[in-house]
Amino acid sequence: MPGQPGVHEAGLADGSMKLIVTSPPYNIGKQYEKRSSLETYLSDQERVIAECVRLLHPKGPCSAVGTTPLFQSSNGLKLRNRIVWHFEHGLHCTKRLSGRYETINWFTRDGDYTFDVDPIRVPSKYPGKRHFKGPNAGKLSGNPKGKNPGDVWVFPNVKSNHVEKTIHPCQFPVELVERLVLSMTEPGDAVLDPYMGVGSAIVAALKHDRRGYGCDIDSPDGQAGLRPGKAQRRPLMRIAAQYSHLNGREFLLVHHKNLLQEIEEIIESVDAESCRTKMSKEKIKSGRLLYSPVDMNKAMAAGFETSGWGQRRQEFWVTADEKIVRGIATLPAARQKEAIEKAGQEPIYSYNQTDFVKDRVAVEVQFGKYAFVAHDLFVKHMAFFVSDVIDVGVEILPMKEMEREMSSGVPYYERDLLNIIRQGRGIPAVPLLLIGVAP
Ligand SMILES: C[S@@+](CC[C@H](N)C(=O)[O-])C[C@H]1O[C@@H](n2cnc3c(N)ncnc32)[C@H](O)[C@@H]1O
Repeated sequence: MPGQPGVHEAGLADGSMKLIVTSPPYNIGKQYEKRSSLETYLSDQERVIAECVRLLHPKGPCSAVGTTPLFQSSNGLKLRNRIVWHFEHGLHCTKRLSGRYETINWFTRDGDYTFDVDPIRVPSKYPGKRHFKGPNAGKLSGNPKGKNPGDVWVFPNVKSNHVEKTIHPCQFPVELVERLVLSMTEPGDAVLDPYMGVGSAIVAALKHDRRGYGCDIDSPDGQAGLRPGKAQRRPLMRIAAQYSHLNGREFLLVHHKNLLQEIEEIIESVDAESCRTKMSKEKIKSGRLLYSPVDMNKAMAAGFETSGWGQRRQEFWVTADEKIVRGIATLPAARQKEAIEKAGQEPIYSYNQTDFVKDRVAVEVQFGKYAFVAHDLFVKHMAFFVSDVIDVGVEILPMKEMEREMSSGVPYYERDLLNIIRQGRGIPAVPLLLIGVAP
């Protein structure tokens, strides 16, 4: 029933669904839903839940991901488990703790329901462990088929690099639904998701010889971004290109794999579409809503700051006299000042600052003016490297395809790639990783 707006319009028979599993729209203005008043939302939910209860097989479980006790309200369903689904990736929040779990509330009609833990057992912690005393001494102490998986399930959520990722912002991973299907239904049983999205629940059902039913206001094609009028692109940021100068990326892979992964995750969790806030006043782009460099920087900064990347400032003193500058270039700041004063010149204070530094890796995010990139690469990263503050510099830039959707004068990856390559292999003399991003 793809495109069918509601389960109550699908003409299904009473008690025909053995498992109903769903994650309803949240009513918080996600791109796949129209926000309505709380009363309308609750009454719509109650109508759908009542219909689910009618369709639920007498021995059937009903699971709702990410929802409230709405299911229980007046339907007489009994809560069997509140399963916590934990995942490692997601948005990095700045004003509250980052969300890393969803709950799956599992209800049944009554005490007689289908449940078999065997197909979903997981390896025991100590598979060969035996009783060492008592009547069972010498026998295996655990179940040789594995242990009950418990009520905290750890599966990656479907983010940018997940093989199942489509345009849909909130897909179930199929393996999550598979656990429900395998333990709560038998081959031939019917599984329903009244808000099926891209159909992950249906896929899980079909994979295990069950039948799958689902409804959604949008068709799976529309969900995949193919429907006219819907966003054609994935909303979160992706890494479109990378260039490793003087083995910058290889250095990270060998010595700081976790930091490289962290950088990639921060980039991929930026919701570029929410940064399209700048109304263009330029003649050629007049009236177009463009990506705002300020909001892009803020979104990136939020990710780096929450992950513990901090500012690093390097102070120095200069003067116009070339001879003096040669003599003081590698001295610490206090001694530079002293030497300039001793030579009877006026010391001029200055500093280089990099916003995100962690464990000798510096990251510059550059959505501002294109001239700043050369300053980052040839001055800032260089200065930190020669002063032994960092081992590698990372520069994050928009790709040309993104720059087209920004005001004039911002940098783009392809141009700065040439700027580096045409200097020859060794210049600038600092290992760098250039990352081109696009929504
Ligand atoms: C949280 S998502 C479910 C995603 C799904 N579990 C999956 O794995 O792809 C909620 C879905 O509800 C659909 N939806 C929103 N309002 C709806 C309505 N009034 N009737 C039917 N579907 C609706 C949206 O199009 C969206 O795909």
